[in-house]
Amino acid sequence: MLSILVLHGPNLNLLGKREPGIYGYVTLEAINQLLEKEAHSLGVEVSALQSNHEGVLIDAIHAAQMRHDGILINAGAYTHTSIALRDAIAAVAIPTVEVHLSNIYRRESFRHHSYIAPVSIGQISGFGAESYRLGLQALVHHLRLVALQKG
Ligand code: DQA
Repeated sequence: MLSILVLHGPNLNLLGKREPGIYGYVTLEAINQLLEKEAHSLGVEVSALQSNHEGVLIDAIHAAQMRHDGILINAGAYTHTSIALRDAIAAVAIPTVEVHLSNIYRRESFRHHSYIAPVSIGQISGFGAESYRLGLQALVHHLRLVALQKG
């Protein structure tokens, strides 16, 4: 069974209370439950981790080698700042999909650049909690297609 690591970056533990006008009222726990449900119907397994610390996220990416087939990541503000996170994803070469609750391109210009995007298969941004569900579907679709092509 395909195994997906879901990584949530800084401040996402505050979802539900944090700037609800931008991020809505859905909690991180509810997002993880939604992903569990979606994983079940896709026939894959997910394990989720949230951290406010860059190094913890990097360690989790390193540890994903041999354990997980894909990574679904909302790196939060590290998206726009962390070359180290980008390098970790490039180093492990695990297919990664980047997601954001908000549409980062409709917001402040400092959010328009993502260090994660160039090392990701693709990005889903702007659909609230649905971004995660769509991202998981896209990642699993990609992994299955690659497996088929390999024969
Ligand atoms: C975010 C967008 C980032 O710019 C911001 O720093 C976040 C959340 C999103 O999901 O919309 O923390 O990644």
